[in-house]
Amino acid sequence: MREAMARARVGDDVFGEDPTVNQLETMAAAMLGKEAGLLVTSGTQGNLVSLLSHCHRGDEVIMGHDSHTYNYEQVGSAVLGGIAPRIVPNQADGTLRLDDIEAAIMPDNVHFGTSRLISLENTHNRRGGVYLTPAYTQAVADLAHSRGLKLHIDGARIFNAAVAQGVDVQELVKDADSVTFCLSKGLSAPVGSVVVGSADFIKRARRMRKVLGGGMRQAGVIAAAGIVALTEMVDRLAEDHTNARMLAAGLAQMPGITPEPVYTNILYFQVDHPRYTAQELQDALAAQGVGVLALGLGRIRAVTHYGITADDIAETLEIMQMLLS
Ligand SMILES: Cc1ncc(COP(=O)(O)O)c(C=O)c1O
Repeated sequence: MREAMARARVGDDVFGEDPTVNQLETMAAAMLGKEAGLLVTSGTQGNLVSLLSHCHRGDEVIMGHDSHTYNYEQVGSAVLGGIAPRIVPNQADGTLRLDDIEAAIMPDNVHFGTSRLISLENTHNRRGGVYLTPAYTQAVADLAHSRGLKLHIDGARIFNAAVAQGVDVQELVKDADSVTFCLSKGLSAPVGSVVVGSADFIKRARRMRKVLGGGMRQAGVIAAAGIVALTEMVDRLAEDHTNARMLAAGLAQMPGITPEPVYTNILYFQVDHPRYTAQELQDALAAQGVGVLALGLGRIRAVTHYGITADDIAETLEIMQMLLS
């Protein structure tokens, strides 16, 4: 990736003149089966650009109470766009019940905001990396479209969802009107995400990216890493999933540790140990060179990715054993 970045041909992307950015955007759109793509700085910016491009002030976006967009993005669409989140409960499998979505769609009445968009998350971060299926996503898209709404997918880890289910990523986004996915995270690029959708939608999204300060000039150096991510880093995600399962199986044997189910590359585990809170265990692991994240209520998140090998997992389990017993 570093070599590709160093060699990248660049131009001014704000004028559409960076050949490497253009190549990445075209490649990403083709992979996801959409007309056009847009390189953005981050998953947060991709979701924000998408919501601002679908909606106007006074519109509502239906999203899950545990979604990343609601919890970890400062609800930017409300702050900057006057767009209100309409929250429905996320189920344990990351879905929103169709009945709940239906009930959250406001009637056309002067008292209410205008329901404009549904946003799904695949894979679901706070639900342990669980994936949504093509059939479920299709059902939500059908519901959205039958009621005149659009569907956005926060697919920060959509390729993990595809690899885990053994389906083409296009199956997971077929009737979505927009998708954000991250080149960083599991795909291992240092920075960047891509938004894909129709040519018209991406034209609006490009304006939104600019007003948010996301026009990046010679961004080909970033896009070059993204091209390597899409060509070389997708299939190997299966290795991360295997490693996460191996970690969970080992942790299940440890005193005071209860792992949650593993679906992809994310593992949450509960700490209920006489000597450690979750935060103390995070600190003790960090001192041994193992990075995890304590998230409150005794829960820790571990994520597997490129550069973490099966040997690293075995070593982590030895360190955990040493600390906990
Ligand atoms: C599901 C999901 N969406 C969006 C994001 C935001 O991505 P970024 O950190 O690149 O802004 C994340 C980050 O963890 C995420 O897990």
